[in-house]
Amino acid sequence: MEAAACRIYNEKVMDHFRNPRNVGEVENADGIGQAGNPVCGDIMELSLKVEEGVIKDVKFKTFGCGAAIATSSMVTELVKGKTVDEALEVSNKAVADALGGLPPVKMHCSVLAEEALKAAIDDYRRKSGQTA
Ligand code: FES
Repeated sequence: MEAAACRIYNEKVMDHFRNPRNVGEVENADGIGQAGNPVCGDIMELSLKVEEGVIKDVKFKTFGCGAAIATSSMVTELVKGKTVDEALEVSNKAVADALGGLPPVKMHCSVLAEEALKAAIDDYRRKSGQTA
């Protein structure tokens, strides 16, 4: 069945699953956001370091499926170096597209990445006295 699993995910997804980027938690994070899927029980947490409105560092911890790990990894790569406003424009579809696509049954996993990112930005804005 292993061969079948490899056909479900493309090479890029498998690469981000096997070698996830930016795993962990940013020290002295300016914003932390969590998202979970009540159906599968998977959870994603994203932490941000923001300087002058720019995301300088971002890390994730994900207890979840391979697609959730790959989308977590990709969303960190997509938003690092972006302004907070630009990062808010990153949708789950953009994350899935950057991975070269996800199987339709796994698209919901990419929603965790978008929601965790938005929650982390909300948290950053709250803590820095800005309104979300
Ligand atoms: Fe739960 Fe993928 S199955 S996030």
